Amino acid sequence: MLRLALIGCGGISHMHRERFSALADRMRVTVTADIDADRARRAAEEVGADLWVTDYEEAIPHCDAALIALPHHLHHPAGMAYLEGGKHVLMEKPLANSDVQCLELIGASRRARRTLMVAYCMRYHPLVPALKEAMEGGRYGETFRVSIWTEQLTEVAPDHWAADPEKLGGGQLFSHGCHYVDLLLYYLGRPVIGSHLGTNLGTPWMAREGTSDLILKFESGAVGYHGATWGARGSRLGYSIHVHTDQGMLEADISHGRLSFLRAGEETVLLDCGPLSKYGDREMAHFMDCIETGVTPITDGPDSVQGLRVIWRVYEAERQGKVADLHGLGLNQAGRRPAVREP
Ligand SMILES: NC(=O)c1ccc[n+]([C@@H]2O[C@H](COP(=O)([O-])OP(=O)(O)OC[C@H]3O[C@@H](n4cnc5c(N)ncnc54)[C@H](O)[C@@H]3O)[C@@H](O)[C@H]2O)c1
Repeated sequence: MLRLALIGCGGISHMHRERFSALADRMRVTVTADIDADRARRAAEEVGADLWVTDYEEAIPHCDAALIALPHHLHHPAGMAYLEGGKHVLMEKPLANSDVQCLELIGASRRARRTLMVAYCMRYHPLVPALKEAMEGGRYGETFRVSIWTEQLTEVAPDHWAADPEKLGGGQLFSHGCHYVDLLLYYLGRPVIGSHLGTNLGTPWMAREGTSDLILKFESGAVGYHGATWGARGSRLGYSIHVHTDQGMLEADISHGRLSFLRAGEETVLLDCGPLSKYGDREMAHFMDCIETGVTPITDGPDSVQGLRVIWRVYEAERQGKVADLHGLGLNQAGRRPAVREP
C-alpha cells in the first residue's frame, strides 16, 4: 500500500482527491500539506489522512511518494526536498520554471533511484492514445497537419501566484500550452522550427500572454498547431484535436469524448468515452505501476523537458522577431513510450 503525501491542496488537488478512492486498494493519502492550514485540514478530512501540515517538508517522513500540486516556482524546491528525502514524485505540470531546475530534478531522481513523473493528465485520456493508434495504423492516411484547440475562460485574481509571470514561469503557453506541446511532440515526433505569437488583449489579468498561437514544423514535413485562449467567453471548438491526412480528418473531440473519422461529409465514430475528464486515476495508477516495476513513466522528466525547451525557444524567438530553430532539443528523442496499463 503506497503512502502518498498530497502537497498543495488548492484547485487541481480537488480533481485528484475525487479519484483517490478508485485506487483505495493500492494507495492511501497519509498526509496533506498546504501553507493555508484550513485547506490542509479540509483535504486531510476529505481523504482520510492521519496528518496535515503547513510546512511541506514536515510531511516527508510520513510518505513513500508525493503528489506535488504547488505553484510553479515551488516545484523545484519541493521536488528536490522529496527526491533527496528518498521519495517518489508525481509533479503537476510544468516540471519546473527553468531548464537548470528541471535537470536538477531529473538528476536527483536518478541519484535517489526514485520515480519522477510529470502529471500531463491529457496523456492519460483514452482519446489521446487512441488517436495516435489511428494515425499510425495507416488506415486513415498520412498525416500532414495536427491542430489542437483549447478555449476556456480562466481568470486569475491579481494577488494569485499565477498573475506573477516569475512564479508562473511565463504566460498561458508555458502554464497550459505545455500539455499540448507535449501532445504535438507525441503525435508528430521531432520538431525542427517553430513560432509563437501571444497577446494579453482579452485577458488583462495576465501579465504575459493569455492567448497563444503556436505553429511547429516537424522532421516529417507535417505541421502542428496549438491555438489556445484563457479569454474565451464563448466557444465552439472547446477542446479538440483535428488531424488532417491525405484520406480525411481524424477528430478527437475532447469536450464530448469522441474520436471520429470524417471523409466526404460522412462521419465514422471510432471511440466514444463520454465528456471531458482529466482521468487522474489512470495517471495515478501509471505512477504506481512505475514505482512498483521500475518502468519509466510515459510522461517522465526528460520527455517533459523537450516540450518545455520548445516553449522557451519559441518565447525567445518571439522576443527577437524570429522563427525558432528547434533542432537538438536533446534527451530521449527516440519514440520510447510504453503503453499505459488500465487501473
Ligand atoms: N493538469 C491540469 O490540467 C492542471 C490544472 C490546473 C492546475 N494544474 C497544476 O497544479 C499545480 C497547482 O495549481 P492550482 O491551480 O491547484 O493552484 P492553486 O493556487 O489553486 O493551489 C496551490 C496551493 O498551494 C498552496 N501553497 C502555496 N504556497 C505553498 C507553500 N509554500 N507550501 C505549501 N502550500 C503552498 C496554496 O495555498 C494553494 O492551496 C500547478 O502546477 C498547476 O499548473 C494542473
